Amino acid sequence: MTELTPTSRRPALRGIDRFLSQVDQRLRQLAGHSVSSPEGTARPSPASGHEEPRLSAGEREHAAGLMRVNHTGEVCAQALYQGQALAARSDTTRDKLLGAAQEEADHLAWCEARLQELDAEPSKLNPLFYAASFALGAATALAGDKVSLGFVHATEERVAGHLRAHLKALPGEDRKSQLILQQMLTDEERHGEEALQHGGEEFPRPVKDAMTLASQLMTKTTYWI
Ligand SMILES: [Fe+2]
Ligand SMILES: [Fe+2]
Repeated sequence: MTELTPTSRRPALRGIDRFLSQVDQRLRQLAGHSVSSPEGTARPSPASGHEEPRLSAGEREHAAGLMRVNHTGEVCAQALYQGQALAARSDTTRDKLLGAAQEEADHLAWCEARLQELDAEPSKLNPLFYAASFALGAATALAGDKVSLGFVHATEERVAGHLRAHLKALPGEDRKSQLILQQMLTDEERHGEEALQHGGEEFPRPVKDAMTLASQLMTKTTYWI
């Protein structure tokens, strides 16, 4: 298996990934930050160099459905962070958001590559979820940096719970998908903790519960579509 390097993975970026990368770069220019592009700082996929597992047709389909959900989750993460960065009040908060978005871009590329290996397509609903998440991110940021960073913490908490569930649900043989989700889980937990450390306000339980319900709209549809 060829290792995914920043250069070698570029041809694999297509469609929505390319669009997200362009939006991200444009946003960084508008914000006047000299943060390098997501492509320029990509980490190799944790699945690189590992053998493709032998999966039954059913297992492969299930793994593809789960990784499609995770790919859309990363599309939403890009949109949320970009929307939040666009409307952030302080440069420090904008830097933190764009830094996290850069790691989310790695997650997006890893999920995209794994979907291709599983002969599966990304969700057709991605443009819809991207637009809704971008608007939600910008609206959250307009409420102020404390709310915006609190939103990051609450979101990452939900994402981490969902990743733990997917790690259990993946076929036992699919080590490649598991390695990707494990690294994503480590990163998401850190994003959430850092958001609180940088002044985010922890959201009340009822708000978090509403966010869990809303996220199920995404997870339950993109497994199939
Ligand atoms: Fe992520
Ligand atoms: Fe994250």
